[in-house]
Amino acid sequence: MKITIIHGQSHKGSTFHITHLLAEKLDGELTEIFLPKDFDEFCCGCTNCFINGEDKCPHFKKLSPITETIDNADVIILASPVYVFHTTGAMKSFLDHYGYRWMSHRPKDSMFRKQGVCISTAAGAGVKSTNKDMADSLLFWGVGKIYRFGTGVAATSWERVSDKKRRHIEKKVSSIAKKILSRRNKVRPGIKVRVLFSVMRLFQKKGLNPIDTKYWKEQGWLDGKKPWEN
Ligand SMILES: Cc1cc2nc3c(=O)[nH]c(=O)nc-3n(C[C@H](O)[C@H](O)[C@H](O)COP(=O)(O)O)c2cc1C
Repeated sequence: MKITIIHGQSHKGSTFHITHLLAEKLDGELTEIFLPKDFDEFCCGCTNCFINGEDKCPHFKKLSPITETIDNADVIILASPVYVFHTTGAMKSFLDHYGYRWMSHRPKDSMFRKQGVCISTAAGAGVKSTNKDMADSLLFWGVGKIYRFGTGVAATSWERVSDKKRRHIEKKVSSIAKKILSRRNKVRPGIKVRVLFSVMRLFQKKGLNPIDTKYWKEQGWLDGKKPWEN
């Protein structure tokens, strides 16, 4: 099983250690991207990706190897510490670059058969909104099954996290790993993804953005074909 982790930070604190715990339990082939170390561009708002094609993004070349590891993965893990109730700026800037892949534009068919995980840690509060920041992208990319784990660690470093908290983390992470492993190679997207796809299909039938319409036609999705049934 191929696993790609996008770390929303470049240091190895609580979020990193929890994320690694999950990766160890999944015991797959691991690729890790650290932000902003491995990708530090902000979306410049040119909208080229939406209108003229993703290859017209000024950061396309730099992003391509990362996109490739995401596309090759069976499991995508997005992980971020909570910064002022949300994901890190580095994670947000990274995700902005994949707006064109949202179901409202040109989702990648393989996404519908992948599993995704959002992991966040806070000192106290903010994991719900932070996980939502990341889960929104996974959902609109079309990722079939999405899991979330967030916890207040009551610490600003992994070394200071209590044994009791570590036991709680271990239990939760094991439970997610079990579910992921049980769905290995047999992901069917949940109702939310399937309904979203159907709604987006109605919009695509109106032909609002020519490059998107062309893409949906090529995939056969306007003729009733479903990306998860390929
Ligand atoms: C800029 C910044 C903003 C933060 N904002 C919050 C916050 O809104 N809520 C919170 O509980 N902790 C907040 N924290 C604390 C971290 O989320 C918390 O210590 C987290 O576990 C750090 O993860 P890490 O060890 O992976 O870096 C903030 C930390 C930083 C550096």
